Amino acid sequence: MRQHWATRCLIGLTAVFALWSGAVAAETQPWWKGALIYEIYPRSFQDSNGDGIGDLNGITARLDYVKSLGVDAIWLTPIYPSPQVDFGYDIANYETIDPIYGSLKDFDRLVAEARKRNIRVIMDLVLNHTSDKHPWFAESASSRNNPKRDWYVWRDGKAPGKPPNNWQSVFGHSAWQYDAKTGQYYYHKFYIQQPDLNWRNPAVQKAMYDVERFWIRRGVSGFRLDAVTSLYEDPTLRDEPIVRDKAGKPEINVFGEVAVDGSLTDKMPGVHDVLRTLRRIADGTPRQQVVLVGETWVGSVSELSTMYGTHNDELQLPMDLQVGFIDKFDTARFRKLINDAETGIGGNEPLFVLDSHDKPRWDRYGDGVHNPDIGRVLSTVMIASRDTAIYYYGDEIGMVTSTPTRKEDVRDPVGVTGWPKEKGRDGERTPMQWTAAPNAGFSPPGVKTWLPIPASSVTTNVAVQTGRPDSILAWYQALGRLKHDNAALRNGSEVMLNPGDLNVLSWLRKTPGGPAVIVICNFTAKPQKVSFDLKAQGIATGKVATLLKTPGTNDLGSLSEIALKPFGVYILQVR
Ligand code: NOJ
Repeated sequence: MRQHWATRCLIGLTAVFALWSGAVAAETQPWWKGALIYEIYPRSFQDSNGDGIGDLNGITARLDYVKSLGVDAIWLTPIYPSPQVDFGYDIANYETIDPIYGSLKDFDRLVAEARKRNIRVIMDLVLNHTSDKHPWFAESASSRNNPKRDWYVWRDGKAPGKPPNNWQSVFGHSAWQYDAKTGQYYYHKFYIQQPDLNWRNPAVQKAMYDVERFWIRRGVSGFRLDAVTSLYEDPTLRDEPIVRDKAGKPEINVFGEVAVDGSLTDKMPGVHDVLRTLRRIADGTPRQQVVLVGETWVGSVSELSTMYGTHNDELQLPMDLQVGFIDKFDTARFRKLINDAETGIGGNEPLFVLDSHDKPRWDRYGDGVHNPDIGRVLSTVMIASRDTAIYYYGDEIGMVTSTPTRKEDVRDPVGVTGWPKEKGRDGERTPMQWTAAPNAGFSPPGVKTWLPIPASSVTTNVAVQTGRPDSILAWYQALGRLKHDNAALRNGSEVMLNPGDLNVLSWLRKTPGGPAVIVICNFTAKPQKVSFDLKAQGIATGKVATLLKTPGTNDLGSLSEIALKPFGVYILQVR
């Protein structure tokens, strides 16, 4: 049955691939270099069937809008069948679609319609754990002798009522859950309902590599690999060291427990072998380049650089979760981290991320006075750098974080466990704000949406901003176009300018022989003046032309005096 389907599918896809390969062949570099990736949280993008939850047909219906952003690819957070404890990151079947989102047919239509618009689809792939409702886990938990017992990480307790060690779940409390039926504990790095797979078992490896192949055959152009550094744990089950403050006092985490450092459950040997295999499979795809994006929480650029692989044979795009996550306008720190990405990853492509379904939105940088201009600064840093950039649906219209104010309204379980210190991630997952109508054009009026529609939707929405040149949406669209069409911004090298300036971050992008581009961002709430001497960059400073500037900024006179508004941006071309 499956072969029959696969054969049909391959024949069907040949025509599409022919079209696709034309587009790829015309490119001079991999499609994902210098690209823009738009993260879509499917539950919250567009509800097409009036059940209060977004779905695949909703996304398909909005592709022209997505195209208008200049986006090269969309990353869909998990759409597989799931009990939705972690809203899809608890997968119960890796090879089909959850009916709340649609069907495989809807998925194929989405991929095909996206292709027509030259937009690729990146799937989220959760390799570290499954749902406890996955048939593999049901079998594994059924008895100690079940052939799938070793597909998960089962261990005896230390003593009656005592877990095997002190490892903690990211979502609070012990990472071990006792199973009375078989008298052992299973390990879960995330929710109790997300048991970790045992990656030391070759059968697990094979099953997951087959999942990768399945979706590549289905036409996806890449994967975002969830929690990929956590696949292995220390086999000897040593306790993890306690985290201490400078005075040596144990740190208490948001769940009220003494924190451990996670060092024996993350980035363990073995991860790189898996990455190499995933990459080999990706690279074996005929006629299209499949990209591997990694959810890589690292503490330094040198750690980040290992994720590309010693021979550039692991992830093409491990996420740099440092630059965008500085969380305050610290000019020197931004300059350093961007420069690190320029010099410390062996010339590879950095992937900058501003926010996501796990992180409060961009307004965490806001001062409540200059927020639209602050949004312009942040998007410029992300998009006009030498990088591939990911941004999150709604950023482009200035959607803000809408954190629940009452515990009883929280949907994300970690927000219940951690209340009030940790309120969960609902605030960054509210429905997309399309119009000022009730339910914001996300669901039909009168439907109860899965998370409430923020009151800000009346003023902050796509409809009200469309066609307005001074809107934040117009800004994102212009940046998207520049990243595509301007050779220096898409492919150029990058060098930081005026490195001693603590108020203004500026950098130069340049391709050999082509016009250079200077990007200037005022990181302060005060007007600033800057000047540039580009002799050291081999630029005699002749003609300058404005490419994009914060609305209300005066045209520049010359490079020797550029006036910036508070949190103003100026992007200019220089020959
Ligand atoms: C990272 C995902 O982004 C997050 O949403 C999820 O809860 C964990 N991984 C567990 O899968």
